[in-house]
Amino acid sequence: MLKRSVRDVSLAGRCVLLRADFNVPLKDGVISDATRILASLPTIRHVLSAGAKLVLTSHLGRPAEGKFDASASLRPVAAVLTEQLGFEVGLIADPRTAEAAAAVAALPFGRALLVENVRFFAGESENNADLGAAYARLADVFVNDAFGSSHRAHASVVGAAAHIPAVAGLLVEKELAAFDSVLRQPRRPFVAILGGAKVSDKIAVIENLMERVDALIIGGGMAYTFLAAQGVGVGSSLLEKERVDFARTLLDKAAARGMKVHLPTDHVIADRFAADAQRKTVTGAIPDGWMALDIGPETAAEFAAVIHAAGTVLWNGPMGVFEMAPFAAGTRTVAHAVAECGGVTVVGGGDSAAAVNHFGLAARMTHVSTGGGASLELLEGCELPGVAALQDRG
Ligand code: 3PG
Repeated sequence: MLKRSVRDVSLAGRCVLLRADFNVPLKDGVISDATRILASLPTIRHVLSAGAKLVLTSHLGRPAEGKFDASASLRPVAAVLTEQLGFEVGLIADPRTAEAAAAVAALPFGRALLVENVRFFAGESENNADLGAAYARLADVFVNDAFGSSHRAHASVVGAAAHIPAVAGLLVEKELAAFDSVLRQPRRPFVAILGGAKVSDKIAVIENLMERVDALIIGGGMAYTFLAAQGVGVGSSLLEKERVDFARTLLDKAAARGMKVHLPTDHVIADRFAADAQRKTVTGAIPDGWMALDIGPETAAEFAAVIHAAGTVLWNGPMGVFEMAPFAAGTRTVAHAVAECGGVTVVGGGDSAAAVNHFGLAARMTHVSTGGGASLELLEGCELPGVAALQDRG
């Protein structure tokens, strides 16, 4: 359920600790996609215009925990925030120090500081109680706006919430509402599109969605384990042998309850995993020595027709290796079909969000999630620890 939001607490004259997910793609100090930073700006602006001062926290990448690593510094994020907010957003090196407390005390209301990457401080991932308390000491109110990190029971996400009033930011609120509405009150027919490499990553998602959807579309690498379960030859395509039984049971269950599962019937195949591989389109079995790297045109058209007729579409996982142009057509067709669908369309984070951005279609979806792992956990039916930790303490 939705917890109290940042809109429900009085903020004027208070200091707000805001955990965001600024885990953006970064190479040689350059941010290639600032979507996640921009996604928290409404909450940041809301807090600042209410007359509060703001201490921002986030992780970035997966540096070795407990020590500074210049390549994972949040300095480039501070630069984007400075540009967006129109004032200098300074960087606090260590939230546990007297210098940090002094910097926060000296910060005027309506201004913000950013703490360095939370993964530089020992105890973050094990939710060390002292570290969580150190974050909370900097502020009067905690706001979780880090939807993409809310599945992590870490000190900056969960620990800090234990000491001061803790509420959801506008982004977390929006994300939870989007998933809640499709999972609880979908407009019918409700179609889920699942793709990506592995069945094993999606077992709990499939089991939860089976109970709710009217049709399931399966593409991407994971489709070949399902085709193998139907006795179709898959050549050297991705195959999880130990999941074939699961796939067969799922297909039997779906058939027993009259639920349609759409699998690829034709494929773009390649002789190796490379953009310049030899390739062709085949229908039915995939010859030995060849691997499927995208759904074929006939499959893409069938999937698009199902999507066009849907009342609700939930999409998680690409249909092929869309990062390589020769294997992008299936994912592109599906992305356009979702964009054209007149129903409610929700795109899970991670690779499917990247695909939608890649094809320039994000603005045409009802909601594109900023969370990969977090959205998967919601689709599994789990409560996120970062949301469970939010409690109103007045
Ligand atoms: C993500 O990119 O999914 C989130 O920022 C979480 O990152 P993590 O998997 O490194 O915790």
